[in-house]
Amino acid sequence: MNREWGFWSEVKLDALERYLKRFTTASRSAQTVLYLDLFAGSILNVRRDQPNRTFEGSTVRALRTEPAFTHLRFFELESKAESLGNHLDQQFPGDERYRVIPGDCNASIAQSLSELRSEGLDWSPTFAFIDPDAFELSWTTLSSLASFKNSQARTKAEMLILLSHTSIPRLAGWDSAMGLDETLSLSTTTFYGTSVWRQIFNRRIQYGLSANDARGLYTDLFRHRLQYVLGYRQTLSIEMRNERGSPVYVLVFATDHDAGVRIMSSVFEQAREQSAEYRAEIADRRKRQQLDERGEIPLLDMTDPALQPQPIYFESTQTDDEPVLPDWLMSALDQE
Ligand SMILES: C[S@@+](CC[C@H](N)C(=O)[O-])C[C@H]1O[C@@H](n2cnc3c(N)ncnc32)[C@H](O)[C@@H]1O
Repeated sequence: MNREWGFWSEVKLDALERYLKRFTTASRSAQTVLYLDLFAGSILNVRRDQPNRTFEGSTVRALRTEPAFTHLRFFELESKAESLGNHLDQQFPGDERYRVIPGDCNASIAQSLSELRSEGLDWSPTFAFIDPDAFELSWTTLSSLASFKNSQARTKAEMLILLSHTSIPRLAGWDSAMGLDETLSLSTTTFYGTSVWRQIFNRRIQYGLSANDARGLYTDLFRHRLQYVLGYRQTLSIEMRNERGSPVYVLVFATDHDAGVRIMSSVFEQAREQSAEYRAEIADRRKRQQLDERGEIPLLDMTDPALQPQPIYFESTQTDDEPVLPDWLMSALDQE
């Protein structure tokens, strides 16, 4: 049974695919090029708004990338790893470039990176896609990825990470009566590698920080830590939104390359355009369905270009500015 996702998941994976092609093209002179997928999922996904529409998962897109990656590692929980492996075997018979690593990626990443190092791959241009459902990722995993490459290498592994900021209490809106859930709180701290995110949470509850500002700060705190704790030269982000314009998650990209910044900025821009088009298509389809259900014939000619759905833009990107944190958050970081 394939999982169902909103249109933004297809946009996310199309953005990944576009970037990977540019990444391997830019890495053409390297003998080995490495792709790591920490939350690999399954080979096929379904669009929630169009159950007969499928789109391929990140593993398949990475394996199909041209110029090709030479080594790929897919991490997935035990319960799903076998079926992922079987499906990939069927689709890519005899392809020896990839391996599925079953289990919690946070537990297996160190061993996998050390094996790759012992194969002499720690010079390779390396891209990591990190696509959890919510806060299943540990900061220590990001730290291992950032220090994977040989100390003589000029750049660190590039990373595209999903930050599920709407899962943080009080932003989703579903937990306001329940207060702060300790399990969720612990996983958020493990994700950030610090409990300082709670300062943002407290400001939201006690001092009326707006949901929008809180989301911006959760994103900037993450970007700040990628840059100032892990040492990435630059981070970029795009906040993805659903059909009504409500935020769903943020994609955060970390790189040491100027070219990476330039390419991902344009990929994020394309993602904005694509989201706007899908949103308009969905609105148009709903309108037609409603007319159809009511047995009404549209009075206006729906094929008239003037009546075609207009793209609806909601996504916002941060592509060139530094993450600036307010003094109260900086001093909480300093006191850690
Ligand atoms: C959002 S889905 C990934 C979607 C996938 N990238 C794609 O393109 O279809 C998240 C996946 O991570 C897996 N997962 C959750 N926790 C994990 C962990 N600790 N280690 C490895 N995989 C995990 C889940 O089973 C799920 O398949």
